Amino acid sequence: MDRMRIVGGTPLRGRIAIGGAKNAALPLMAACLLSEETLVLENVPRLADISTMKRLLAQHGVEVDARDEQGASGEQTLHLNAAKIGSTTAPYDLVRKMRASVLVLGPLVARFGEARVSLPGGCAIGDRPVDLHLAGLAALGAEIELTEGYIGARAPNGLKGARFVFPKVSVGATENLLMAAALAEGETVLVNVAREPEIGDLARCLIAMGAEIEGIGTERLVIRGKPALHGGRHRVLPDRIEMGTYAMAAAITGGDVELVGGDIDLLPAVFPVLAEAGIAAENTAGGVRVYRPNGHITGVDVMTEPFPGFPTDLQAQMMVLMSVAEGAAMITETIFENRFMHVPELRRMGANINVHGASAMVRGVRALKGAPVMATDLRASVSLVLAGLAAQGETIVNRIYHLDRGYERLEEKLSACGAVIERMPDAA
Ligand code: UD1
Repeated sequence: MDRMRIVGGTPLRGRIAIGGAKNAALPLMAACLLSEETLVLENVPRLADISTMKRLLAQHGVEVDARDEQGASGEQTLHLNAAKIGSTTAPYDLVRKMRASVLVLGPLVARFGEARVSLPGGCAIGDRPVDLHLAGLAALGAEIELTEGYIGARAPNGLKGARFVFPKVSVGATENLLMAAALAEGETVLVNVAREPEIGDLARCLIAMGAEIEGIGTERLVIRGKPALHGGRHRVLPDRIEMGTYAMAAAITGGDVELVGGDIDLLPAVFPVLAEAGIAAENTAGGVRVYRPNGHITGVDVMTEPFPGFPTDLQAQMMVLMSVAEGAAMITETIFENRFMHVPELRRMGANINVHGASAMVRGVRALKGAPVMATDLRASVSLVLAGLAAQGETIVNRIYHLDRGYERLEEKLSACGAVIERMPDAA
C-alpha cells in the first residue's frame, strides 16, 4: 500500500488548479441512465470513485467513453450512452467500494420499472443508512423490498409524481429523488431538500436533457415529469471541497496560493470563518487567492451543517488548522457520527484535542511534530497531509488509497507550490 512522505515547514506559494467536483460528477454520471441518448460530461476529475462509477455503469450496459482533452487543461470528458441496458442490478462488490453507487437506484427504477441495488452497509464514518432514498421512491409509487442484502425497487407501470417531505436533509436522497421524478408521471414536489451546489449542478444538467425543474437552490424543488429525456452536454462545476482543502493548506503553511478555477461563492460559510481566523481570500481574474496577512491564526468555533453551512467534508481540515491557532476552537460535527477518526492521529503529532460527544475542543499548540500516521477515510487522510505540511520534521501518512478517491494528483499540485511531499510505494 502506498504511503506519502512529507517534510513540513515550507509555505506553499504558487497556483493550484481546482478540478471538477467529485460529488457533482458521481450523480451526473448516474443521470445518463435516464436517457437512451448520449450524455456528455466535461471537466470530470480522474479519481478512484469516478472509476468505480464508470465500472458500475459499464456493468449495467452503459457505453463509457472517456476522452482526454488536448491542450493545457488536459481535462477528462465522458461520453455516456445508456441505450442498451443489460442489467438493472448494482452488485455488492462495487456498491461496497462506494456508497454513491446507490445513486443508480432512482434513475433505473424510473426508466426501466425495476432495479436491484446492494445495500451499501456500514462505512468508516458512521452508519449512513439509505432509508430516506427508499421512503422517497416509495412515495413516487415504487414497491421496495429488502432481500438478501439487496434493495429491490419495482414500478412496473412507471413512477407517479407525488409530494415528499424529507424528514432530514440528505444530499444523496435528494439527488436520487430528483432524477427519479424527472421521468415520473405528473408533478413531484420535494420539500426540505439539500441545497448543496452539486444538486443545482445536477438539476441544470437534467434541464439540459429536457427535464422541467423549478426551485434550484431553495429547499423546495418542483419537477414536472417527462415521458423521456434526451441527451445533453454539461460541464461539472469546480470541486469546492478540493478548493477549501487547498485554501487551508495555504493558510496553515503561511503561504500565498491562487486556486485557479475556484469560486469563493461555492463556500459561503467557509471563507468568512477563515477570515475570522486571520486568513484572507480574494477573487482574482482566474480564481481565488488565499494568504495569511498578519502571521498568526486565531481560534474560531465551527459547527458543520447542511449547505449553506460549514461542510462536514472540510471539518477535519479545519481542525488541523485550529490545532496550531492561538487560543481554542470548539468544532462540532452535526452531520455524521464517528467523524473524528483523525483526532488520535493528530494527537500523535502533538495536537491538543479533546472530544466530548459530537464536539472537539482544540487548544492550539505552537507547532505540530512529524510522525507516522494512518489515514482512515478520505477527508481524515487529507487532514493528515495538511498536518504534515505544517509540522516540524517528517510525517509518513500510511494507507493513502483513501486520498486517491477524492484528490487528483495531490502530491504534484502541492509540490508545484514548494511542498516537500512524495508518494512512496510500500516496501512491505
Ligand atoms: C454526500 C457527500 C459526502 C458528504 C455528505 C454530507 C456525495 C457523493 N457525498 O454524502 O461527501 O459528506 O453528502 O454533506 O455527494 N441519512 C439518513 N438516511 C438516508 C440518507 C442519509 O439518515 O437515507 C443521514 C446520513 O447518515 C447522514 C446525513 O443523513 O447523517 C447526511 O447524509 P447525506 O446528505 O445523505 O450524505 P451522502 O449523500 O451520503
